[in-house]
Amino acid sequence: MSDKVNVKIEGKQKSYPIYIDTDPIDEIKDRIMQSIDFQNFLVVMSEKVYKLYSATLGFDKNDIFILKDGEIEKNFQNYQKIIKRCEEKKLNRKSALIAVGGGVVGDITGFAAATYMRGIKFIQVPTTLLACVDSSVGGKVAIDTKFGKNLVGAFYQPDAVFENLNFLKTLDERQLKSGLAEVIKYAFIEKSCNATFDYGLFDFLSIHYQKVLDLNLRFLSKIIRVCIELKISVVSKDEQEANLRKILNFGHTYAHAIETITNYKQFTHGEAVAYGMFFIFNYAHYLKIIDANYKEAATDLLKKFGFEDKKFKFDKKKIFQIMHSDKKAENFDIKVILPLMKGYVKEGTLDKNAVLKAGLL
Ligand SMILES: NC(=O)c1ccc[n+]([C@@H]2O[C@H](COP(=O)([O-])OP(=O)(O)OC[C@H]3O[C@@H](n4cnc5c(N)ncnc54)[C@H](O)[C@@H]3O)[C@@H](O)[C@H]2O)c1
Repeated sequence: MSDKVNVKIEGKQKSYPIYIDTDPIDEIKDRIMQSIDFQNFLVVMSEKVYKLYSATLGFDKNDIFILKDGEIEKNFQNYQKIIKRCEEKKLNRKSALIAVGGGVVGDITGFAAATYMRGIKFIQVPTTLLACVDSSVGGKVAIDTKFGKNLVGAFYQPDAVFENLNFLKTLDERQLKSGLAEVIKYAFIEKSCNATFDYGLFDFLSIHYQKVLDLNLRFLSKIIRVCIELKISVVSKDEQEANLRKILNFGHTYAHAIETITNYKQFTHGEAVAYGMFFIFNYAHYLKIIDANYKEAATDLLKKFGFEDKKFKFDKKKIFQIMHSDKKAENFDIKVILPLMKGYVKEGTLDKNAVLKAGLL
């Protein structure tokens, strides 16, 4: 039995469904075929997902492009290989690209779908928690280049997203936690998302964190649905990040800096975001933007999920340089999303002297 969330982006005609369920994985293929109208197709899967699920999913091997695992594979060469397979299979504008995997597969497949023949159908089957709550929702698709992560991309909404929570059972602890960091982020930004409903995600996570860590699918599906609805409420009003969508970058300025300086080898994206959130809470507390009570409550929530408030000895100058060159930076200021009080955030500027005085780098 599917739970369904409909996505409608303001100013766009197209709307699409996100299905969330715990039905048998072997039903996904038929459900895709029955609910979306397309001719031929190509499925893109990461190597690990292929090994774990290709037999159950039941797609023909000739219809699958296998992408090696890792952020490094979200590159131009693999994009070209996917396009070549589309061409060999004679995919046309009525065809579909289907991404089965985490954010890496979703991003590169989405970019291929957005650009092949100026756009073909695109279906997402996210298999990591991060992809369920974040990367498969909102229509950002991209590849990395040697000049920057996600530097070449598009805003391209899918035709449908099929989220099946059974995939999450095979995630290792690190990958699960990586997704949880993005989940916790929504608790910190919830009240600024302009959602019509007050979900109380912060308190819900504070109470039920152990059930989430134990992979209780009933609680997880509730949380995933809330995160999706919060993300949609932001993205539907500001698809292209002119304003409101920036709040989704809470914790991400520092996160991108430590991911970049370590060549994406030391941290998962979620781990980096968790460190980025500790960083910005400490910074906001130092400048008295938030009080000690909120800082304690927020950092406690992160710690409940096993994240640590850790300082790293990275080259300070380089970290600032990377923050300056972030796509989100404007002119000479480093723009960040600051916490204000429980669930509320706003955009502000990072004061480098304050960062240094507070000993945050
Ligand atoms: N488009 C967006 O809005 C957006 C938002 C956030 C992140 N991202 C992107 O998402 C990417 C990170 O995504 P991710 O965290 O899903 O990482 P990922 O796609 O690299 O997946 C992590 C690992 O888990 C494996 N895996 C996937 N599903 C599995 C399963 N069910 N069981 C076991 N292993 C499984 C993958 O094969 C891979 O080895 C980054 O490239 C990031 O830039 C995009």
